[in-house]
Amino acid sequence: MDMSDHINRTSLGANPAANIKRHMLIRVFAVILIFIFGIFQMGAKHSSCQYSNVNNDYFNPDKNVSLRQDDSKQGKISTEIKKGFIGFNNTKGVVARDWRILLVNRDNPIPKGFSVELAKVQGNVRFDARAAEHFNSLLKACREEIGYSLQPRTAFRSNGLQKTLYDNKLKSHMNRGKSRNEAERLTNNYIALPGTSEHEIGLAVDFNVLKQEFEETEGFKWLDANAHKYGFILRYPKDKESITKVKYEPWHFRYVGRTHAETMKGKNLCLEEYVHYLWKKSRVNSNSDQKQVLPE
Ligand code: DAL
Repeated sequence: MDMSDHINRTSLGANPAANIKRHMLIRVFAVILIFIFGIFQMGAKHSSCQYSNVNNDYFNPDKNVSLRQDDSKQGKISTEIKKGFIGFNNTKGVVARDWRILLVNRDNPIPKGFSVELAKVQGNVRFDARAAEHFNSLLKACREEIGYSLQPRTAFRSNGLQKTLYDNKLKSHMNRGKSRNEAERLTNNYIALPGTSEHEIGLAVDFNVLKQEFEETEGFKWLDANAHKYGFILRYPKDKESITKVKYEPWHFRYVGRTHAETMKGKNLCLEEYVHYLWKKSRVNSNSDQKQVLPE
């Protein structure tokens, strides 16, 4: 047996017909695998397109905000109902994709890794740079329309400042003889725990007098009637205390963008309710079979 004969026998095996059959089977198997993979890819693409469309309808109403499309899958949306309160996991929920309506409260701490670019605005406070222009427009309009000077007392607060405010208030309640639990309950009424305040995300502002009397001022009356036109909402209304878990704060306004603010005003929804409303709407539109699953 010479070398070429050896090579032919090695590459084709002892039975050339059986080898050809085996090669054919491998090829057919490969084609089937490629076909199945192709179908799987098409399916995946389709569901994420559909989901993106739904989000663009409800989460990008101004069409000028770029949304991250990567970190939210329908199956990962997490909701929880605690004592009648509906909270959302912002790190995974679709709502977090629109920075203007990022829900931050006791049940929804600021997402890990959150960062914001701040800008100095009127009143020498800092605010989310993307909303700075709207902040200044709000103050200007109030001054021009009724001659009232809205004074921002505090807008962005660092986590450290929020902690100091919280701890000081807690101590002052305890110094007045309250138990730790009672002091915490009273503090939570008006000051968010560090890490759960929307002041820390640069989208909240406290005006003039941090007392209920602010409600009686012309400035508050103007804000109540007009703030939504500039994208701001009264964040902790009197009739929503059981939902926000914060007492009425006539001085505290939150930027959510004009479209959201107008809808919230029109429907009398606080941010917690509005976020739930959007989420419910997107679920209903993305999959009509899931209507029954939604919490009312
Ligand atoms: N006053 C609100 C609740 C805050 O501290 O964020």
